[in-house]
Amino acid sequence: MFLRTAGEADLAAVRALLVETWHDTYDAIYGREKVTAITDEWHSLPALRAQLTAPNSEFVVADDGTRLAGLAFAVAAEDGKTVRLRQLYVRPGFQGKGTGGLLFEEIVDSFPEARRIELEVEEANRRAVAFYEALGFQRVGNTANCGCQGSGIPALVYAKTVR
Ligand SMILES: CC(C)(COP(=O)(O)OP(=O)(O)OC[C@H]1O[C@@H](n2cnc3c(N)ncnc32)[C@H](O)[C@@H]1OP(=O)(O)O)[C@@H](O)C(=O)NCCC(=O)NCCS
Repeated sequence: MFLRTAGEADLAAVRALLVETWHDTYDAIYGREKVTAITDEWHSLPALRAQLTAPNSEFVVADDGTRLAGLAFAVAAEDGKTVRLRQLYVRPGFQGKGTGGLLFEEIVDSFPEARRIELEVEEANRRAVAFYEALGFQRVGNTANCGCQGSGIPALVYAKTVR
C-alpha cells in the first residue's frame, strides 16, 4: 500500500470508492435513498475536482497498485494551526488493516504547523467513533449541520492535539 496525492486521473475511482463506502457505512443509518442523494451532491466529479485545488488542503489516496483502498482530505484554517479532517474513507474490503491509520498519519505529517485536528463523525457510526477514540480524539461538541451549512445532519465533533 502506498500513499500519494490525489490527481485528476483518480477522480472517477475516488467517486466510486466514496459511493461504495458511503452506502456500506450509512445506508443502515440514513436510508439508501438519502445516501444516494448526499453522495450524488457531495461526491460529484465537479465537487471532488474542486477539492484538488482547494487552498491549504491535502487530498491523499491509498493505492495498492491496482486499486484505491482509501482516501483522506483535510483543510487547514488560515493560521495553519487547526486542521479539519473533512473525509477519511477506507473501502469496505480494506477496512481494519491499518489503512485508515496510515492515511491519518499522512494528514498530520502534511500539515507541520498543525497543533489541533478536528472532525465531525456520525454518532451511530460506532466503528469510526471507536477508531478516532483509539487515535486519541476526544469529543468536544456537536453540530446540527454535518459536512456543510444547512445539511441538517447531526454529528459529534471530535478533536485531538498534535505535536
Ligand atoms: C473508520 C475508518 C476510516 C478506519 O480505517 P481502518 O483502515 O478500518 O482502520 P485501521 O485498520 O487503520 O485501524 C487503526 C486503529 O483503529 C482502531 N480501530 C479500528 N477499528 C476499530 C473498531 N471497530 N473498534 C475499535 N477500534 C478500532 C484500532 O485501534 C486500530 O489499531 P490496530 O490496527 O492496532 O488494531 C474505516 O473503517 C472506514 O473508512 N469506515 C467507513 C467510513 C467511515 O466511517 N469514515 C469515517 C467518517 S467520519
